[in-house]
Parts: sequence; structure tokens; C-alpha cells
Amino acid sequence: MPVRSGGGPLRIAVAGGGYVGLVTAAGLASLGHRVNVVEVRRAWVNALQAGQLPISEPGLDELWSKVIGDELHVTAEGDKIYGASDLILVCVGTPSREDGTQDLSYIRAAVQEIGEVMSGSVVNPVVAIKSSVLPGTADEVVRPLLEKASGRRAGADFGLANVPEFLAEGTAVGDFLNPQRIVVGALDKPSAERVLAAHEGIGGRRIVTDLRTAEMIKYTSNAFLASRVSLSNEIGNMCKALSIDAYKVLEAVGMDDRIGPKFLRAGVGFGGSCFSKDVRALATQAGDLGLEARLLRAILEVNEGQPGRLVDLLERKLGSLRGRRIALLGLAFKPGTSDVRESRGLAVARLLLQVGARVVAYDPEAAPNARAEVPDLEYEGSAREALEGADGAVITTEWPEFSGLKEEFKSMKRPLVLDGRRALNPEGLGIEYEGLCW
Ligand code: UGA
Repeated sequence: MPVRSGGGPLRIAVAGGGYVGLVTAAGLASLGHRVNVVEVRRAWVNALQAGQLPISEPGLDELWSKVIGDELHVTAEGDKIYGASDLILVCVGTPSREDGTQDLSYIRAAVQEIGEVMSGSVVNPVVAIKSSVLPGTADEVVRPLLEKASGRRAGADFGLANVPEFLAEGTAVGDFLNPQRIVVGALDKPSAERVLAAHEGIGGRRIVTDLRTAEMIKYTSNAFLASRVSLSNEIGNMCKALSIDAYKVLEAVGMDDRIGPKFLRAGVGFGGSCFSKDVRALATQAGDLGLEARLLRAILEVNEGQPGRLVDLLERKLGSLRGRRIALLGLAFKPGTSDVRESRGLAVARLLLQVGARVVAYDPEAAPNARAEVPDLEYEGSAREALEGADGAVITTEWPEFSGLKEEFKSMKRPLVLDGRRALNPEGLGIEYEGLCW
């Protein structure tokens, strides 16, 4: 397969203008490549062409406005783009089904279209999957689909790669432009070289490997991070029962450089669109292989238990929660985002509603998204309003503004604050304070 050599800009198509696709496209365009985002949702295409981003991510607006209209374009017409691209990055969603298996329908649809366009094209592109897909997906799903739809052969007429993303919401632009490592799983050397050429100018270690190893690296990374959180939470639950401050324990533990200090914050658990979905998908694949994956399942079980522990603690303090006004501070799955997918704040809110509490919620950014998911909460525009007259408060996202609250607690009926995130230093606040794991 001929590979463009000598560096220089590549023609890159990004299939899928979601969170990963937009950050990736803007990042690659900022390196000088000519990038086209192919997005099927018309409304998104119109907004993006007009320079409006449908997601909020620090630094992305600035990067986007530098490249849009020059190196970067957005279109709904993949047929015009795929046939004239050196590299096609597939960045569509891979949601979880009810049974935990991965729904590959967006991948299949994108790959089918790419294959059909390739059948009538003379260009030999590399098709690289950036979406999170389980080990074996490139070999068993993507390659056969592409070969069938295009009538061409992988390795001879087109290349194939897996380039997992390691972008965390809130730091995605920096994660893309200054990664610790770039993992490239490739069918062959030319495929790897083209993906590496696209990332020239970006630092970080390069790991070039086969397709399924790269796919596994992505899932193992997320499973590892999630396992640290769940282990911290389990230790945190024990610490609470033993009147030990888990944060002191984990801080000292993290000083061992074999362990390291990150992802040891105990509390109400992890949310977000990735950890639960990926760990569940991996555990389900393990089951299909006849393996039990006890540890992977335990990561999820511990995580699912934490919101209930916060509600139990509140019940122990207040007795029945029926009719009680509870202030819920934090709806985003972590600070710095409006994303509420798998948010622990919403998990706590649902449990509180189930036991008949009146939940008055506040989040600096995520209320509109939360309202769409759980309309039965009362949403307030400030922490002060949410706390006013409350019988108790729970903190479920560690937004920096919560650490500055003080006078606001005075308007509570009972100044009881249960912290699920170690967001507050209670000293001098005059509140009745309990941490979930300390
Ligand atoms: C995560 C990974 O960190 C990224 O590397 C990965 O690329 C991404 O998933 C993905 O697969 O796309 P993200 O979900 O954006 O990124 O957020 P994280 O910062 O990892 O936080 C996830 C959750 O864990 C949050 O709810 C956070 O509050 C919680 N967490 C994190 C803890 O409860 N304790 C900790 O010590 C750290």
C-alpha cells in the first residue's frame, strides 16, 4: 500500500462529530492537516459550520475558531470526503446495551458507508477506529465489513488501525495535544506509519502494536482507573466504620511510587460515560470467554453501592426522609463539565425521591441536562437557594465554589451536611458535618 511520505499535511476524515471526534479533529487540524468532520446530525453540522460547538470543553472553542474554515471543515456528506482521505478516523459512540454488551451499530453504519465509498475510489486510505471497541472488533467486525462493502482487501488496498483515545472531560484538549502516550494498533507497518504521521508534532511515547492489543490497552486503562476508585471506596467504607480518615490513609499509600497518588479519592463513586460502560463491556466479554471476571464485576458493585450509603447515612441522622427537604449540591459527574451521564448526584437524587424526600438541587453547569433526565427534582439557581430551609444537604460533585460556602449554611433548618466528595473543610463553618468515607 503506497504511503505518503516526507511528512506534510494529510487529508483526514473524522467520522463522528461527538466529543472525541471534535477534540481530535480540532487537534489534528491545529497540526496543519486538512481535516473534515463527517457528522450525520444535520443540526450539529449547521451549528458547527457556524462556529458553535454543541459541547463545552475548556480550550476547545479557542482551538476550533483558529482552524474552522481553513484546515477544518464539517459536513454531512461522507461520500464526498471518504474517497479523498488518507486517514479516516472513526469516532462514533459505542454505547452499552441493557445486558452490558457493546452496541456497535454506529460503528457498523460508519464503516459500511466508508467501505461503499472506498469501492469506487482510487485512494488507499487507512481506516482507524478511535471509538472504544472491545478486543477483536477490528479483526472480526470492522475488517470483514470494510472488505465486503468495498470489494477491496485490507493490507493491500487499504490500511486498518486502532488508535484509542485517552481524553478525560475537562482536560481533553491538553490530553490530545500533550499525551503521555499514543497507542497505535495496526494491521501492518504502513497503517501504523500513517497514523504516526498524523500525530507528528505531538509529544508522548509511541506504542505500536497489533489491533487487538491496542483495543485491550484502552479497556485495561479504564478498568484500572475505575478499580482504584472502587478499592479506595471500599477502604473508605471500612475507614468510616473504624473512625479513620480514609484520605489520610490513601495519601500515605499513594506516596509509594509503585502505587502513585491519583484516582484514590474515596466517596460517592465514579460516574461518566466511560468507566461503567467500559468495565461492564469488558466483564461481559470475559463471560463470553468462559471467564468469571470477579474483580471487574466487583468494581461496578462497589460503585453502585456508594450512593445508597450516602442516603443511609442521611437516614441514620434524620430518621425517615419522607417529606424532608434535602439540598443536593452537584449533578455533574465531575466538576468542570455539564455532563450528567452516570452521575452519582443523580443516582443519589433518584434514591432520595424513592424514599419520599423533597430534593432541591443545584449545580453550576449541569442543571439543564439533569432536568432532562430527572424532571422531578426542584432545581435552584444557586447553592444558597437550594440550602434555604433544608433539613440536610448532600454534596455529590466537588465543584470549587462549594468549598467557599459558609453563610449559606446558616439558612438551613438543620445545618447537617453529608459530603460525598470531600468538597468541604468543615472547620469554622458551624455545621454538623459527616464525610462518606472519613
Ligand atoms: C475517563 C478517563 O480518565 C480517560 O482517560 C478516558 O479517556 C475516558 O474516561 C474515556 O474512556 O473516554 P472521564 O470519564 O472524563 O475520563 O473522567 P475521570 O476524570 O476519569 O473521572 C471519572 C469519574 O471518576 C468521575 O465521576 C470522578 O468523580 C470519579 N473519580 C475519579 C473518583 O471518584 N475518584 C477519583 O480519585 C478519581
